[in-house]
Amino acid sequence: MLLIGVIASAIGILICLQIDWFPTQGSMQSDKIDTLYDVLLIVSVPIFVLVMTIAIYSVFAFRAKPGDKGDGAHIHGNTKLEIVWVTIPFLIVSALAVYGWIVLDDIEAKQANELEVRVTGEQFTWSFEYPEEKVQSNELVLPVDRPVHFEIHAKDVLHSFWVPAFRMKQDAVPGITTQTRVTPTEEGSYPVVCAELCGIGHATMRQEARVIPAAEFDDWVKDQSEGGAAPEEGESVTAAGREIFASAGCDACHTLADADATGTVGPNLDELPGVAGKREKGTSAEDYVHQSIVDPRAFVVKGFGTTMPTNFGDQLTPEEIDTLVQYLLGESKTEKGK
Ligand code: CUA
Repeated sequence: MLLIGVIASAIGILICLQIDWFPTQGSMQSDKIDTLYDVLLIVSVPIFVLVMTIAIYSVFAFRAKPGDKGDGAHIHGNTKLEIVWVTIPFLIVSALAVYGWIVLDDIEAKQANELEVRVTGEQFTWSFEYPEEKVQSNELVLPVDRPVHFEIHAKDVLHSFWVPAFRMKQDAVPGITTQTRVTPTEEGSYPVVCAELCGIGHATMRQEARVIPAAEFDDWVKDQSEGGAAPEEGESVTAAGREIFASAGCDACHTLADADATGTVGPNLDELPGVAGKREKGTSAEDYVHQSIVDPRAFVVKGFGTTMPTNFGDQLTPEEIDTLVQYLLGESKTEKGK
């Protein structure tokens, strides 16, 4: 029995360690967290095998035999056995808790030259503020190999800030500030997700974290503080609008052929003037589209919910919003904007 248990545990551990459970390791924290999970797996498999072996053995050994009547023998405890099965799990769980605490204390330690990022969660979007750089963004852009200190806030309900590739997850709680630390070590794009069911648009609360070389990050900061993607000299409204449409994340929820966007959470923007026509008479298409961007609750198109974030008026400059309005009205196919 013992031999079978040892062999079954060994096979189970081998299989578990072969499976690739985790996403890309995108941060300094990833490796230690993945090792922690592997240790948990190695400890859990023999316990699972032990419990299942005893359970299956008992089902066969102590089953009712032909001719058996009534209850089996009554057993009133076994002090020695009870001390053993309380003490051993207590020691295992305590050791794992201490190990987990040591790892967390290590990977969340304050570091020199940290980049400060303020994360705000609201129904249903994340926004990122870089207080020292004086930059606001809907995209999380980080320089590679520099420690980041995240200060996390929520405007309305509970959310949870999570970049699976970084492994660190932290609740965003209205009224209090939570924090976490990450040092991105791999350049690339990773999803930012919300890991707390926060309402009807929870599943759409996905954005992008982009880890880039330090020099590129400095350029990005410069670009952002120079007024973002409002049309520059010689740039057409279409090109500028397309850029804003993508960077503000409109494509996640709306369909717009010119931007290769196919979202269906919000109204189809290829049919914009048709939609705008349903708004009260006397409101110009420009005013209607402008209002729908900065105050999306003012008029909700029939058949759609109130999923759209209400912070685009803060996220985008007035020039960017004007460009976006012109772009959207110019791009709609049913009828040119009036
Ligand atoms: Cu925010 Cu789920």
